[in-house]
Formats: sequence, C-alpha cells, structure tokens
Amino acid sequence: MIKVRNLTKKIGDFTAVDNISFEVNDSEIFAFLGPNGAGKSTTIKILTTLLLPTAGTVSINGQDPVSQSEEARRSFGVVFQDLSLDDDLTAFENMELHGVLYDVPDDVRKKRIKELLTLVDLWDRKDSLVKGFSGGMKRRLEIARGFLHRPKILFLDEPTLGLDPQYSCLSWGMA
Ligand SMILES: Nc1ncnc2c1ncn2[C@@H]1O[C@H](COP(=O)(O)OP(=O)(O)OP(=O)(O)O)[C@@H](O)[C@H]1O
Ligand SMILES: [Mg+2]
Repeated sequence: MIKVRNLTKKIGDFTAVDNISFEVNDSEIFAFLGPNGAGKSTTIKILTTLLLPTAGTVSINGQDPVSQSEEARRSFGVVFQDLSLDDDLTAFENMELHGVLYDVPDDVRKKRIKELLTLVDLWDRKDSLVKGFSGGMKRRLEIARGFLHRPKILFLDEPTLGLDPQYSCLSWGMA
C-alpha cells in the first residue's frame, strides 16, 4: 500500500528527512516513531501530496503522489498534527463538507456522519460551532472526519495529542 525508497527532503541547506525507506502492506498498522524534529510530519506531508520530495520515490496504493496527486488523494484520509477544521462551521457542517468533497453519496454520508459523531461522543454537539469546542473535542472531530470516506489508507500524525486517556484508547481502537 505504501512504498518509500531513499526518501530525502531538504529545506534550504537543512535535511529534514534523510534517506529513509519502508514499506507498509495491506491491513497492516504501521507506527512511525522518532524524536521531535526527526522528520515524521514532513514524511507524512510528502506522502499526502502536500510537499515534494527532494530525492527518492514514494508510492501510495500504487500511485505516485508527485505525478498522480489527484488519484493518490482518493486513496487516503489524514489527521494532521495541526488541527485543520473550519472553526466557523458546526461539527456536522465540517463532516458534510468533507463528505461532499470526497463524493460520498447523500444517504451514505448522513448515515456515516451520525455513526461517527456518535462514536466520538459529539452527536449531541453536532450543531455547535467548532470554535467553541475544547482542544480534545476538535481532535475527536478530526479523527471522525478522517474515517468518513472510508479511505484505504489512513495517516494519523500524533492523533491522540490533546485527548484524555479514555479517548486516546478509543481512537486506537477505531484505527
Ligand atoms: N517549512 C519548514 N521550514 C523549515 N524547517 C522545517 C520546515 N518543516 C520542517 N522543518 C524542519 O524539519 C525537521 C523535521 O520536522 P517535522 O515536523 O517533520 O518533525 P517531526 O518528526 O514531525 O517532529 P514532532 O515530533 O515534533 O512532530 C525539523 O527540524 C523542522 O524544524
Ligand atoms: Mg510532527
């Protein structure tokens, strides 16, 4: 599902990712560990088409995120380390927007949004604006959103940041 060969990313003279290689198979949960500044988020940004590699090759579900970025984007969902919700929309609207952008059909979309928001205990807050949510509530909404289009690959960059132990366990169970 994921192939990374001799991946390097330089930002100016600085090497943020230094010649890494790994593979992840279908149905595998792969944990990518390293100290702060090791290059984990930068690697995820390259795999999710947000940054270009300086050297090396990557493949996502058989597609090249560099030359086939649109096709590659259909294969994955992502929960970034930094929150990426729209604060001026409600929880439900954030989910809807994502579902529409990913062409999830109307009836399936409504059903899944209810299931996922219930799973992360936000169904009763579905009509509240996200700007009024706590950090952990926003994180739970982002995790739910990552699952909405049932992607083949789900990238989670420190998804339990800001979650209490109860929800931390829940999110690993969902993954
Ligand atoms: N846009 C940028 N401009 C300059 N340096 C950057 C940029 N993005 C990343 N870096 C540098 O690249 C290195 C890797 O950063 P990255 O965010 O990938 O680390 P990380 O492994 O995700 O760390 P953390 O555990 O703190 O999230 C760091 O030294 C960082 O300062
Ligand atoms: Mg990071």
